[in-house]
Amino acid sequence: MRTKLIAANWKMYKTPDQARDFFRDFLPMVQGHDRDEIVVCPTYLALDAAVTAAKGSNVAIGAQDIHWEKDGAFTGEICATMLLAVGATHVIIGHSERRQYFGETDDSVNLKLKSAIEAGLIPIVCVGEVLEERAAGLTDDVLRRQCLRAFHKVSAKKAVSLVVAYEPVWAIGTGKTATPQMAADAHAIIRSETAESFGPEFAAKLRILYGGSVKPENAHALMSEEEIDGALVGGASLDPKSFASIVKY
Ligand code: 13P
Repeated sequence: MRTKLIAANWKMYKTPDQARDFFRDFLPMVQGHDRDEIVVCPTYLALDAAVTAAKGSNVAIGAQDIHWEKDGAFTGEICATMLLAVGATHVIIGHSERRQYFGETDDSVNLKLKSAIEAGLIPIVCVGEVLEERAAGLTDDVLRRQCLRAFHKVSAKKAVSLVVAYEPVWAIGTGKTATPQMAADAHAIIRSETAESFGPEFAAKLRILYGGSVKPENAHALMSEEEIDGALVGGASLDPKSFASIVKY
């Protein structure tokens, strides 16, 4: 009932030429695949190349971050209208690497979410606990707090396109994957918190992706969980064959 979304987060990898090479190889592998939605999020600099390469295909293009203002004196930043102007349709917001290394807070995530929604971009809001929080039994609290604050003063009507990605920080780039059951439990918490913010009907339709060491080998087990509505893939999305095999799980 919820169409799965399989998204690639390329992080700080691939030049425009390398992005073009990826699409040359990847698109034929997923041609005609309409069971799931496919999104690739390259760096800002490779967005144009990716949009051009993916034009007319079943692959949409997204950015990895956004600034919340419409424009202004914000050196180094990119706003929603610029993303739309190059043909991006999605944007990742609040990735744990932004939270960990670049001072992203729950409040900035909230501002970015509002800005993306206003502009008509499809937001993929990332939440997830660090290892110490999981060990201390705080996963539930952390996920609820991150969702509550991300959704502050966002209306359900405007947030219809919202996608949430559950990315346990301890599983990112470590080879440690949450078990399908752990992911499903976390997704259920996120869905229940979303129901608090936006109502049960909204929550039932919300797509919640899992991210953290998703590979061709574990994609099928993860995607078979009823609660898991797709994947946000880092390392394994850089290689066309590997990402295509995840898409086809
Ligand atoms: P890995 O798939 O490399 O663990 O990264 C996950 C991630 O952070 C996707 O946003």
